[in-house]
Amino acid sequence: MSDSPPTDPLAGSPFLAACRCEPHDRIPVWFMRQAGRSLPEYLAIRGTGSILEAVGDPDRATEITLQPVRRYGVDAAILYSDIVVPVHAIGFGVEIKPGVGPVAENPFRSAADLERIRPLEPDVDTPYVLETVRRLVAELNPHGVPVIGFAGAPFTVASYLVEGGPSRDWLKTKSLMHGDPDLWHQLMGRLADMAIVSLESQIEAGARSIQLFDSWAGALTVSDYRQFVMPHSVAIFDAVADLGVPRIHFGVTTGELLSSMGEAGADVVGVDWRTPLSIARQRVGTDKALQGNLDPAIVNAPWPAVEAAVRAVVAENAGHPGHVFNLGHGVMPSLDPDALKRIVELVHSLDPGGSTPPRP
Ligand code: CP3
Repeated sequence: MSDSPPTDPLAGSPFLAACRCEPHDRIPVWFMRQAGRSLPEYLAIRGTGSILEAVGDPDRATEITLQPVRRYGVDAAILYSDIVVPVHAIGFGVEIKPGVGPVAENPFRSAADLERIRPLEPDVDTPYVLETVRRLVAELNPHGVPVIGFAGAPFTVASYLVEGGPSRDWLKTKSLMHGDPDLWHQLMGRLADMAIVSLESQIEAGARSIQLFDSWAGALTVSDYRQFVMPHSVAIFDAVADLGVPRIHFGVTTGELLSSMGEAGADVVGVDWRTPLSIARQRVGTDKALQGNLDPAIVNAPWPAVEAAVRAVVAENAGHPGHVFNLGHGVMPSLDPDALKRIVELVHSLDPGGSTPPRP
């Protein structure tokens, strides 16, 4: 028996190294929305009920999280859950309609609705999430694969609660933001507190990275973002800063917001496909990592085109150690799993120092 301390099985994780801009021997890759939708093995076990039922069942949620890791050989596993799970769990009254997304029958409209957003107690309200994280950690860490926990950022979650469902213009959300800033900040503060305790509990259960999804933040002007949204995201990143896990911050059409999103406190900034990584790097700075940014809509194109696009993303990164390869947004249900697998193999064959030809 040796007295030496047990070594961390994730010490060699290329994903964790890239998040910290440390050298690593292969470009790490995972896909947002990798768990589910496009995988036949997902549809086989998901069941016909709401996704919230599958999330509430650690057996199914664990298996669904593992499926893409097995199939694609990705470098990280994203927990199978959803950004509205905490607000659902505290009884706000939000469901996820298949093919639609989160829907709230009684949307958030006035100060009286604040009472419907009580603090989250993860052990009591979402014990199934923590059980799933613990099972995943036990299963994956020995193989060197970290689990990414996540939360919805206050703005993106608020947009569902205020609109009552998915929106293209965020009219009611922006009306509330500008019409009653005080109420807006109270709503955002409550949602930020929920995100904080949720993320803390996932990290406590063993998640080794977290991602804050502010998917729809790109709908805002820079000045609205900085005034109405950023302080709450700053509070979240600050609260988990000392827990020792890399923090990823993601949104879509955020080209103009990238520097602010980095400034909010993330270690890694997600970039959608519209902004080349070289430009994102100028905006975010060279001390943070970037995540992205293959256009998900080209994955089903003929392979030579996909290969060229993957190589172009890696070339744009120009050998910076802080690059986690991903899509610019999530996997769509119709994407070809075989193409995604081939993308993982290609990314892994490229030199993290640049876009050199694949190894023989
Ligand atoms: O694979 C993963 O990324 C892990 C699990 C995950 C889900 N949702 C499962 C899910 C994650 C990280 C999310 C986050 C999420 N949920 C976001 C942020 C990420 C992003 O894509 O921008 C947002 C905006 C939501 C809200 C939400 N939930 C939407 C817009 C939808 C899609 C509705 C649809 O069916 O097209 C959902 C449902 C959802 N969440 C599904 C999955 C696998 C599909 C549900 C199903 O199987 O019926």
